Amino acid sequence: MKRILVLYYSRTANTERMAKAVAEGAKINPDINVQLEFHVEPEELTSYDAIVIGAPTYHHDMPLDFKNLFEEAAVKDINLKGKVGATFGSYGWSGEAPKLVGEIMKYKFGMQLLEPPLLANYSPDPKAIASCRELGKRISETLMSKA
Ligand SMILES: Cc1cc2nc3c(=O)[nH]c(=O)nc-3n(C[C@H](O)[C@H](O)[C@H](O)COP(=O)(O)O)c2cc1C
Repeated sequence: MKRILVLYYSRTANTERMAKAVAEGAKINPDINVQLEFHVEPEELTSYDAIVIGAPTYHHDMPLDFKNLFEEAAVKDINLKGKVGATFGSYGWSGEAPKLVGEIMKYKFGMQLLEPPLLANYSPDPKAIASCRELGKRISETLMSKA
């Protein structure tokens, strides 16, 4: 069974609401296992076929948890090459984090990144939630179409 990780960070639940909707959308296919997590160890990443990361923007940057995760994964030479990836996140005015996270996934770890990142301004409205579900569905479909 293929596995999707939806990993997110959220302080005021805006990105969390997005993450739940992405996970819901991904569950459209019963043959795919979808895991929603706030924290994972770098070694766990290898057990997923797709990794979706929800990163709110704070201080024009990604959350420190993700920097630490990527740093540890790089030091431990964790192989994520070819895995499907995508990013999303809530923001206030600049929204850099999902793009920054996606660049590391693509250029450092060689993941197959679905672009562009999905952004929601502060609390995701019904339209943004629908886009999150669509993103989850697209990730599921991309996985199913891979050999
Ligand atoms: C201290 C602080 C710094 C922030 N810095 C940024 C920023 O640099 N750029 C931006 O777009 N939004 C910024 N925001 C807004 C957050 O991204 C926004 O509130 C978002 O909805 C938080 O998502 P969360 O509820 O998932 O944590 C900041 C918010 C706070 C409280």
